[in-house]
Amino acid sequence: MSQSAGRPAPPGGGPGSVGPGAQPGGRPPNPPGGSRALRRALGYLRHYPFDATGALVATLLVSVANLASPQLIRWAIDSGIDDRDRRVMLLAVVGLFGVAVARGLFSFLQTFLAERASQGIAYDLRDALFTRVERLSFSYFDTVQTGQLLTRLTSDVEQIRGFVGSGFVQLLAAVVMFFGTVVFLFELNWRLAIATLVVVPAIFFVLIRFVRAIGPMFGRIQGIVGELNTTLQESLTGMRTVRAYSQERAEVARYRAVNDRLLDANMVAVQTFSTNFPLVFLLANLGTLVVIGFGGWEVIGGRLSLGELVAFNSYLAFLLFPILTIGFQAAGIPRAGASAVRVFELLDEQVTVADRPGAKPLVESAGQVTFRDVRFRYPGSATETLSGIDLEVEPGQTVAILGTTGSGKSTLVNLLPRFYDVTGGAVLLDGVDIRDVTLDSLRSRIAIVMQDTLLFSGTVAENIAYGRPEASSAEVEAAARAAQAHDFITSLPDGYATVVGERGVGLSGGQRQRIAIARALLVDRAILILDDSTSAVDATTEEAIQTAMDTLMRDRRRTAFVIAQRISTVRDADLIIVLDEGKVAASGTHETLQAESDLYNDILGSQLVADREPETAGVGA
Ligand SMILES: Nc1ncnc2c1ncn2[C@@H]1O[C@H](COP(=O)(O)OP(=O)(O)OP(=O)(O)O)[C@@H](O)[C@H]1O
Ligand SMILES: [Mg+2]
Repeated sequence: MSQSAGRPAPPGGGPGSVGPGAQPGGRPPNPPGGSRALRRALGYLRHYPFDATGALVATLLVSVANLASPQLIRWAIDSGIDDRDRRVMLLAVVGLFGVAVARGLFSFLQTFLAERASQGIAYDLRDALFTRVERLSFSYFDTVQTGQLLTRLTSDVEQIRGFVGSGFVQLLAAVVMFFGTVVFLFELNWRLAIATLVVVPAIFFVLIRFVRAIGPMFGRIQGIVGELNTTLQESLTGMRTVRAYSQERAEVARYRAVNDRLLDANMVAVQTFSTNFPLVFLLANLGTLVVIGFGGWEVIGGRLSLGELVAFNSYLAFLLFPILTIGFQAAGIPRAGASAVRVFELLDEQVTVADRPGAKPLVESAGQVTFRDVRFRYPGSATETLSGIDLEVEPGQTVAILGTTGSGKSTLVNLLPRFYDVTGGAVLLDGVDIRDVTLDSLRSRIAIVMQDTLLFSGTVAENIAYGRPEASSAEVEAAARAAQAHDFITSLPDGYATVVGERGVGLSGGQRQRIAIARALLVDRAILILDDSTSAVDATTEEAIQTAMDTLMRDRRRTAFVIAQRISTVRDADLIIVLDEGKVAASGTHETLQAESDLYNDILGSQLVADREPETAGVGA
């Protein structure tokens, strides 16, 4: 009963082992293509030929060692004990010792090599997934939940690793052991073999029933764990909102309700485990009864030796464990299959915005930008967000983009670095369609300050130098000064070396924005895009930023697109365009628009404020 190769290992450690990080939304127990995806995952073993073949050979040798020991025992009893032959006894004991050592060694190799191969596969998968995620287009992230992506890189990869590492090898070992044992049972005494094997179909019947029942249960449990994680994630990210509206109790109740369901589902699975396995053991013990009863009869009748009976009984024990392992691992296959489907789905995801074949790098960019009858529709959206945009911007000009919230301002500037590709018309940079140049070279000409500023965990200096990690501290400081960030940075506890938390925790909205502006200024690109980026700073600071940027833009002849919230920005722009429901409703300079456009005057009066507190303004996001 202590044979290591026959030890059944419940996939994932059984029903109580469902940990955090499972799939939000759940997953079907038997996904279409699950076995194909699993085979593809196993194909990764090819990258580890030494470990994979080593593990297989070790598995076979463990089985051989296992199957050999009852033969030695039989020999010791029949030819040693029975015949009072001490030499045979000694040889058998030495043989058993050798078999035990070999079994230990090969078991170690089997586990170690299989685990090493599976860790390698997990590493490869994580690496490939992350690389893919880094390359995927924005439109993909519009449709997928971050939690789902995280899950694919963590627990789904782990499921595959578990199956490839221990599951697959154990399954293989179990199959070898099962057939090897059956052969030896028949070889020892075919009548006794038939009598005992009568219980095997019954055991298989119980196990198949168990696997059928437990498969969907795992799916359901994973689904509920997903819900639990979603609740947790929402509560954590929305912590401030929860506290502000005193909804702590409601959140706790919401979490507890899901937690209760998880407990119930787990208990159903536990019940299934605990009702089926005693039955399996009962049947197995009946097998032993047959061996002792019928086998004893045969021994008394002289048709079976005592050693053969003992060997027979040992083989019977070997028989049960492969069956249990096959049962357990079979229950895990749908789970690993579902994970493999999810992992390969992400790996195979098409990158929609990519270099065209033959795309050339952009050599030198003056910064002339043309929008030629540009149309844009978000994937899956019924209406066009931008329709028929025509725009001609000369190098070094500043363009201010105005419009009510949702009019398409952010969408328009996002087309320039090809965060999305136009669905009609074309965007040209220095007369070249931006889809004909390489993405890298295009984006390396553009600096952007996004509407929602993201800082990475790290120091202030590292955040400013994000786009140019090799920049000197003098350059970082110059950019910070230009963005009017230097003064507040030096008043931080560690100045430029102050560590800002996740998402820039510890800084105000205005401070974060100025760091983002410094980041964009430091990379010094031909085109600068500022999306709402000065909305969160007070009027004095903004004026200072404005002055700094004016000088920068005039000096270096940067082309700038500014989505403005303030009259001062707008008044000085070379070109102002007013967007309305995705169309250019009016364009010109401050003076011409003031004279000609009612819409512009409306917006001047309502949307643009000379001085306002960002938190109370209705415009944004
Ligand atoms: N990723 C997206 N997928 C689908 N639709 C989107 C997406 N982003 C924006 N939209 C839609 O496109 C329209 C224009 O959005 P956009 O963000 O360009 O507006 P905006 O003018 O920048 O507004 P704001 O002043 O609030 O920032 C809106 O109706 C919005 O719902
Ligand atoms: Mg916007």
